[in-house]
Amino acid sequence: MQPNIPFTFTLFGATGDLSMRKILPALFVAHREWKLHQDGRIICVAKQDFSQEDYLAWVSKSAAPYIKGDFAGVDDALWQSFLARLTYLPLDLLDSAGYQVLAKALAAGKAVSVFYLATSPALFEPICANLAASKIDLSQARVVLEKPLGHDLLSSRAINDAVARVFAEEQIYRIDHYLGKEAVQNLLALRFANSLFEPLWRRESVAHVQLTIAEQLGVEGRGDFYDSTGAMRDMVQNHLLQLLCMVAMEPPTSMDADAVRDEKLRVLRALKPFSAEDMELKAVRGQYISGAVEGQSVTGYRQEPGVAAQSQTETFVALHAEINNWRWAGVPFFLRTGKRLAQRTAEIIITFRPIPHAILPMPGGQAGASSNRLVIRLQPDESIQLHCLAKQPGDGMTVQPVALDLAFDQAFKQRRAEAYERLLVDAIRGNLSLFVRRDEQEAAWRWVEPLLRHWQTSASAPKPYMAGSWGPTASFAMMERAGAQWPEDR
Ligand code: BG6
Repeated sequence: MQPNIPFTFTLFGATGDLSMRKILPALFVAHREWKLHQDGRIICVAKQDFSQEDYLAWVSKSAAPYIKGDFAGVDDALWQSFLARLTYLPLDLLDSAGYQVLAKALAAGKAVSVFYLATSPALFEPICANLAASKIDLSQARVVLEKPLGHDLLSSRAINDAVARVFAEEQIYRIDHYLGKEAVQNLLALRFANSLFEPLWRRESVAHVQLTIAEQLGVEGRGDFYDSTGAMRDMVQNHLLQLLCMVAMEPPTSMDADAVRDEKLRVLRALKPFSAEDMELKAVRGQYISGAVEGQSVTGYRQEPGVAAQSQTETFVALHAEINNWRWAGVPFFLRTGKRLAQRTAEIIITFRPIPHAILPMPGGQAGASSNRLVIRLQPDESIQLHCLAKQPGDGMTVQPVALDLAFDQAFKQRRAEAYERLLVDAIRGNLSLFVRRDEQEAAWRWVEPLLRHWQTSASAPKPYMAGSWGPTASFAMMERAGAQWPEDR
């Protein structure tokens, strides 16, 4: 692990939702866990004219409730020692003259500078240009960029170009918080610290792979943003494709950031483009209508504040993807995500091929069905399960499914870092392995863009599904065509 180093963390957009819900709570936990150097300052920048005192009071009110666990149990002295790291700096991000104050605040000390842009991407260009013009020494600085990075390939290039005029690629940390999740790290450990799975991790043994990120939440007051974004841009282009890369990539030569990112890039470039026919048969988009989630009735997507009454934005996507390389040719990778689904769950299921010839009576008489599955669960709990068939005790030779279960909270008693905590500490320490490189991001856009364009011009609308269900029936039909099933359909 890289050492703890003195730092100045400048948080642009310090009064926004993301800062309050994710970034400041994660920094607090890193502080509590002694992961931040004692000479580490956090400069909170936003437009509002708060006094230092008012800002800290607001952080105590708005960020503290998002600290995982029981905030009431947080020691006040500890919380105050965290607040002591924070300085509020009111600044109009478009006003270049104002950056002189920031330059002065940063000039003191030899700490590494981390600039976290938790703002709208429209501000990335002026912030970077103003930082450069302010004569702040950026040679050792790092800049952290939040998604969404663009709306399509062209706009993402424009953002990346603007940032690249000021920062070199090795200084740019593009966050995909799914890469910071503990279970994703465990997937790497499973694949590259064990010899067991590698010989099976290929087309000869794997029947198909499913990746699901299902949410029960709706658009949570972000109707405006979401309606111009949709599930493909919000979840597939980034989180789901990054998970797919982690499953499908070749073993990198080391855990060095570029070694890992080179392999992910190869996967993204090998994704088979959707043909006109595939766009109809191997891609499903849906939109929720009113229903009930966990017994609570909820409104439909089009009735959410900020959403257009005739919105065609998808809140659900299911795809049958394929990877054109020697390891994976012909193996379906099913990707699925949606809002207002029946459960909150994120998991990767690797289904192995069925046995070639059954000599024992198989459960339900399914001779050709796969009984071996590796289930890597990211949420709500973290676990890895290997599903096998075993003999049922008693007379006869009846076999039944059993799961070999590695529940991390039982196997390891240590606290597990939250995604943002891990990624922020990595950014401060200069570890790029869990951040997305520009070429990866562009390759992901290149793959999803034709489908987005097709949907934009297509005469058919997103398929409606009831809130609280598992998405439109078309998603189940897509699986059936490929001879597979989603787990809840089994
Ligand atoms: C974000 C999306 O990137 O990820 C949100 O913008 C989504 O729409 C969130 O709710 C899901 O993250 P998690 O970690 O709660 O599964």
